Amino acid sequence: MPEFAALITRIDAAVHNVVAFIKIADAPFRITGCWVNVLGPGAAHATHSHPNNFLSGVYYLQTQAGTDTINFHDPRPQTAIIRPPVTELTAYNTDQAVVTVSDGTLLVFTAWLPHSVSVNTNARSRISVSFNVMFTAYDTTMSLPLWGQD
Ligand SMILES: [Fe+2]
Repeated sequence: MPEFAALITRIDAAVHNVVAFIKIADAPFRITGCWVNVLGPGAAHATHSHPNNFLSGVYYLQTQAGTDTINFHDPRPQTAIIRPPVTELTAYNTDQAVVTVSDGTLLVFTAWLPHSVSVNTNARSRISVSFNVMFTAYDTTMSLPLWGQD
């Protein structure tokens, strides 16, 4: 849809940057899904991930105090076995990272990373556009066995 052309261009550029940053060989990819989220007052989004994709992302259209974060959760269940009390939550002793977003923020993250959205405590809805990205020809060009490749 022409209305989404600017957003798709921005997503394409961001995904190219992420793929280059993590040193993945440049390969064609496509957006496999893209949808709008309207999170009304009092609503939340439970922890989930996005199977069968390499990357996922969110573009934020309308955020405000009380609904301007996304939570990324440690995917390793073993880390919950010993959780001593802490004096202050830091990146080194927590099992989640809370990222603050604002209107126009575009996040791209690995699709297997569990994430959630806390309860919207604002009277206005939070509006965002989510998307998934997968390599176009993964099954034919990128999923060969790792042995025997020099
Ligand atoms: Fe999600």
